[in-house]
Parts: sequence; structure tokens; C-alpha cells
Amino acid sequence: MGYEAINFSKKFKLFNEQWEPKVVAEMNDYQFKIVKLEGDFIWHDHNNTDETFIVLEGVLRIDFRDGAVRVAAGEMFVVPKGVEHKPYAEQEVKLLLIEPRGVLNTGHEGVVVQPRMMSGFGDSQGLFMALLRRAAQLCRNSTYRSVQICESGSDH
Ligand code: NI
Repeated sequence: MGYEAINFSKKFKLFNEQWEPKVVAEMNDYQFKIVKLEGDFIWHDHNNTDETFIVLEGVLRIDFRDGAVRVAAGEMFVVPKGVEHKPYAEQEVKLLLIEPRGVLNTGHEGVVVQPRMMSGFGDSQGLFMALLRRAAQLCRNSTYRSVQICESGSDH
């Protein structure tokens, strides 16, 4: 059995897209995602989960309706569930996010990617990402360089 550590800088070299988190590992029902951000995201919240931001490179600012937090490389911050937030990066920042499987970065829960639906698929991760990409293609909002997933009945 070969044991190999996950090297963040090597992983970051595999893509250039910003605002598109990539899953690098999973732990139980949680996913570790790396992402490059630059500029402004949209205001959103996550009704069902906290969201962990670990900054690996650069400086992230997370705006809240009543303030902001500056998170530099080597620091982390946990946004509590239900709290509206807007990530902002003056220059490109590299992050590690930790979220339950199936949570999208806009705060929308993916209707097509509920974790329970994925069990039984050999390549569930690949299918998950394919569904996510497809949904992103369908719903891409040119105002934001972010993935937005359409979901009917959401008040986001
Ligand atoms: Ni968020």
C-alpha cells in the first residue's frame, strides 16, 4: 500500500479557475476543498451547516452584515450556520474549505447532489463533480465568477 500525503501546492498547480472549489479529500461526510478566490463573492448563508475557511496563501476578508474578519495565511475562521457572509479577496487567495458533502458555495444545497443519493456509485466523486459542473453550466451568472446552482423554492 502506498501512502501519500496530499500536497496543497501541487494540487493548486492543477487548476487556474477561481471560485470553483475542488475536493481533495473526504472525512466521513465532510469534504476538504481547495479553492482560489479573487474579488467579491455574493452574500449568502448556509442554513444547515457551519463553514470552515483555512487560508493557505494570501489574505481573505469575510464580510458580515455587522462587521468583517481578516483571515491571513496560517489562520482559519468558522462561519456559523445561518450567518450571512461574503468572502472578498483583494488579491488571489488560496483556501482550504471544510464542508459537508453536497453543500455548494453559494449556500444552496444541491438538489441533484444529495450525499445519500450518491451511495452505491463506484465513482460517486466523479459523478458528483460532473453534476456540479453541468449545473454550473446551466446556471452560470456572468456577474460573478462563481458557481451558482439553480434551485427552485429557495429563498437565497
Ligand atoms: Ni459560504
